[in-house]
Amino acid sequence: MTSFWSIWVIVLTVACLALIFALLVWNLKNYVGVKEGESCGHEFDGIEEVNNPLPKWWTYMFFATFIWAVFYLAAYPGLGNFEGLFKWKSSNQGITSLEESKQAVSEAEENGYRIQLDDEIRAAEKRYGPIFESFAKRDVLDLAADEKALEIGQRLFLQNCAQCHGSDARGGDGFPNLTDNDWLYGGSPDKIKETLLHGRVAAMPSWEAALGDQGIKEMTAYVLSLSGRTVNQKDAEAGAAKFAMCAACHGADGKGSVAHNLPFGAPNLTDNIWLYGSGSKRSVEETLRNGRAGVMPAWKEILGEDKVHLLTAYVYSLSQEK
Ligand code: HEC
Ligand code: HEC
Repeated sequence: MTSFWSIWVIVLTVACLALIFALLVWNLKNYVGVKEGESCGHEFDGIEEVNNPLPKWWTYMFFATFIWAVFYLAAYPGLGNFEGLFKWKSSNQGITSLEESKQAVSEAEENGYRIQLDDEIRAAEKRYGPIFESFAKRDVLDLAADEKALEIGQRLFLQNCAQCHGSDARGGDGFPNLTDNDWLYGGSPDKIKETLLHGRVAAMPSWEAALGDQGIKEMTAYVLSLSGRTVNQKDAEAGAAKFAMCAACHGADGKGSVAHNLPFGAPNLTDNIWLYGSGSKRSVEETLRNGRAGVMPAWKEILGEDKVHLLTAYVYSLSQEK
């Protein structure tokens, strides 16, 4: 923490404590001019206000917690950069390199401590490793028909994928729906596995410079017309005349990379399924103006190939007719 923020934290904390203390002391005085336990002299609907003091036990407890707070903040580190009167340090403080942390771990182990997290991970690997290994030996199609395997696959999906694709895998703005049969990169087991292992980076260029404002308007009209939307016919025709510049990735018919066996991940523009902004005119315009670059992370290193194999089966199963 820089000293500015350290002072900021200290001043706010101390001021807050002082305020709380003042509030308590202020509340202990009798301002109403009526003896404790007697009526304040007004009532509403039969309910009378009585001058009730704060309960004694409550007041003492408040003082005790207040004194504890002051003692704690003075004694231990935590208040800004203040080290505390005891100069106490947690056992993992001050470790700045991998070497040091390894040394700290081995020292702790020598002292009879077991590193719990490591243990838990090792135990989980030992317990579940063989299960994933056995799944990895089986064909994706076989796994996709195995309820038990899919259940475990779903759990992996919820832990690792749901934050982007949604817990029902139906995706969202910029995140593809994995339950339909509309694929950016292909829905065969091989293609899905390739996507999961190595990740994907989409590269839809910006066309602002090449098309200009008028050109973007025309191309938007053409793109929307491809999925059957009513558009300005003249604009759409002008857009169609320039669609050759898009054909390398989306195909001359706009049906997308997968339909033409291309590796670019360019969506099918003719099916009214949209990756961005549910295909509003404004979002298509924005796509053309600024380009898009969706990123699907690579999972090979993070999850290992065995788990990816099972996830492939799970994802594959989502778009199959039940
Ligand atoms: C950080 C967000 C994020 C996470 C986490 C994530 N994905 Fe993705 N995923 C994406 C994006 C974005 C795309 C689309 C890439 C593009 O625009 O070309 C994608 C694409 C895909 C595709 C390709 C779909 C197609 O139409 O070809 C599959 C399959 C997929 N993800 C599965 C998964 C699985 C399984 C996991 C969990 C292991 C996962 N994703 C985790 C963001 C994510
Ligand atoms: C270099 C390959 C490439 C070219 C050329 C290209 N696109 Fe794309 N386009 C993509 C990719 C890849 C995506 C998906 C972006 C993502 O997943 O983030 C995409 C996405 C789109 C989308 C969004 C679709 C949706 O479902 O939201 C539209 C619209 C689009 N492109 C239209 C065009 C038009 C019109 C042209 C020609 C002016 C064009 N693209 C040229 C690769 C390309």
